[in-house]
Amino acid sequence: MKWQLKAGILRHLSRWPGGKNAYLAIQRLLGTTRPQSRRDLTRAIELVELIREAGQQVEGHRVFEIGTGWHPFTPLALYLAGADHIETVDVNPWLSLSSAKSAVDSAERDLEWYSEKLQLNQTAVRDRYERIDFEAKNLDDFLASFRCHYVYPGDATASGQPADSFDFVVSSNVLEHIPEEILRQISRESLRILKPGGLAVHRFNPGDHYANDDSRISTGHFLRFSPDQWEHYGSGLAYHNRLRCSQYSKLFREAGFLSLIEETRVDPRVLEEIKAGSQPLAPEFADLLPEDLAADYMWTVGMKGHVEMPATGASPATRTPTTQDVSETFTS
Ligand SMILES: C[S@@+](CC[C@H](N)C(=O)[O-])C[C@H]1O[C@@H](n2cnc3c(N)ncnc32)[C@H](O)[C@@H]1O
Repeated sequence: MKWQLKAGILRHLSRWPGGKNAYLAIQRLLGTTRPQSRRDLTRAIELVELIREAGQQVEGHRVFEIGTGWHPFTPLALYLAGADHIETVDVNPWLSLSSAKSAVDSAERDLEWYSEKLQLNQTAVRDRYERIDFEAKNLDDFLASFRCHYVYPGDATASGQPADSFDFVVSSNVLEHIPEEILRQISRESLRILKPGGLAVHRFNPGDHYANDDSRISTGHFLRFSPDQWEHYGSGLAYHNRLRCSQYSKLFREAGFLSLIEETRVDPRVLEEIKAGSQPLAPEFADLLPEDLAADYMWTVGMKGHVEMPATGASPATRTPTTQDVSETFTS
């Protein structure tokens, strides 16, 4: 699909009163909301691995997830890894009893693989899965059977949760869809609800999502547009903040997080185009480093600590790409 066509469809849907429902219906029709257990569990595995790399464990701990989406794979994966409670919030009503059940059902064939990947006890994982109540008649009861509580509409800037009440705040493929100022507020709220030593663990995709549907453009394509032009193409249901990795790092640091892990993936095509001068850049991107501009994935772990974050200004480390890191066909 040409990216302009997709942008136009999303722009119109964003303006209609029933646009969100129509969007969901179109996604169902195109099959883009079908659960992809292996892909989404792989993403959840990355979150668990980041927590472990930062020296902590999921087991017995409380997690706050920003941006549930269509399927509760992240809460399910965290529950199977032994999490005590997963609070998950979203600003859009994508999750339903049927989408949740089909996702959890589809994960059954991946349980062994999942346990092996994270070196979890297979019997314990299977036992946890068997305790999920597929007979539940409503979404809340179904989610509660794997220790998950869903809040829609959920406000991650003012969660209503007590201070110091979560061990981890996590998100997967969400932060790029949040405006910078809201992201600042979410980071401050995350810091408030995290226990001292708690972690904010995020993985997200700072690249142009239209490149997933239109091979003529790269993940750096949107860097050419002025804010006004991008408002036309990348707002509403297609919202993308276009922040670069260095800007996320700065934002987390300014919110008060101590950075433990920062990894990025660079899109070689974009890097080459930028270095060759063939990727036009809007003035607000002109002063940033090519590697920063060309990054199409980021993984971060920030800790709530009492230590002042050193302002190193160093570039984040790079990470080997995995085939699972591509974004959805339609993202919100
Ligand atoms: C691309 S989806 C990812 C969903 C899910 N985390 C996954 O990996 O499948 C982005 C999700 O973030 C949600 N979202 C966007 N802004 C948000 C905000 N400010 N607070 C909570 N959720 C938000 C969207 O509604 C959408 O469900």
